[in-house]
Amino acid sequence: MPTANDREYVLGTDEQEHARLSLQHAIWGDAASSHWTRAGFGPGDTIIDIGCGPGLGSRDLARLLGPAGRVIAIDESQRFLDHIDKSTAEPGCAPIETFKQDVQQLDLPADSADGAYARWVLHFTPDPQAVVRGVASALKEGGVFAVQDYLSWRNLLWAPTNGGIDVLRKCILASYKSHNANSDVGQMLPTWMDEAGLEVMEIRPLQRVGRPGDPLWQWPTSYFASFLPRLVETGFMTNAEHDLVLTEWRELGEKPGAFFFTPPQLEIIAVKR
Ligand SMILES: C[S@@+](CC[C@H](N)C(=O)[O-])C[C@H]1O[C@@H](n2cnc3c(N)ncnc32)[C@H](O)[C@@H]1O
Repeated sequence: MPTANDREYVLGTDEQEHARLSLQHAIWGDAASSHWTRAGFGPGDTIIDIGCGPGLGSRDLARLLGPAGRVIAIDESQRFLDHIDKSTAEPGCAPIETFKQDVQQLDLPADSADGAYARWVLHFTPDPQAVVRGVASALKEGGVFAVQDYLSWRNLLWAPTNGGIDVLRKCILASYKSHNANSDVGQMLPTWMDEAGLEVMEIRPLQRVGRPGDPLWQWPTSYFASFLPRLVETGFMTNAEHDLVLTEWRELGEKPGAFFFTPPQLEIIAVKR
């Protein structure tokens, strides 16, 4: 269980969420690698992994940066950080240093990092603009902030539907809102970056279509297994809504013509002026 001072984000930090994050990383890891390449991250760099979770991206970054590099992995969850600390360091990789911090109040030396990466974190923070300002301060001149985050959760859809997708969206968005999560954070990030002294070099859409049998189909399936019971426990979804959504999702999995659209995300690359 998380400790009393281990503030949890809305999806939790238990083993099931850890497993979901691992699957999610396996599915989207290729996008991260190419994002880092375009951001210019490479051997010898010091890169901050903002909201690193159990370190799935941090480990890949450590491989990319090599022994002369450094990964600074920051999260509010001690449980996730403990997992990173207990993992065996791979030879030839950058060391991963963990820090328990609220990313909205980053405590890092100014002008010290070559880059920072934040994936699926800013939409969970009530004050994402503070995160952007903190990262901008920690970057060296010419340092790069690469972000992957949601543009519009409302645009998640699947077809065909008898209304299950509308129920799902309503419940998720209500729960996120109660946690002050901003599921459309991507819409404002480029402006906030510019205001924080970062020049936005690239804004790219990232969206995929999943069909039954695709590995991507497992992404919502694992999200539902971990999050829907939580929505019911916390009163954001009734048992009837839970059964409606899951039944519709299971039936879709049997329909060769079914598909779902991932909620659109943005990949952004910005450079400190
Ligand atoms: C969806 S997970 C993403 C983890 C990781 N970035 C990845 O791509 O696998 C979101 C992470 O953000 C962390 N988080 C959310 N709000 C935070 C905050 N205010 N300060 C620090 N970490 C935070 C959570 O603890 C969780 O580990």
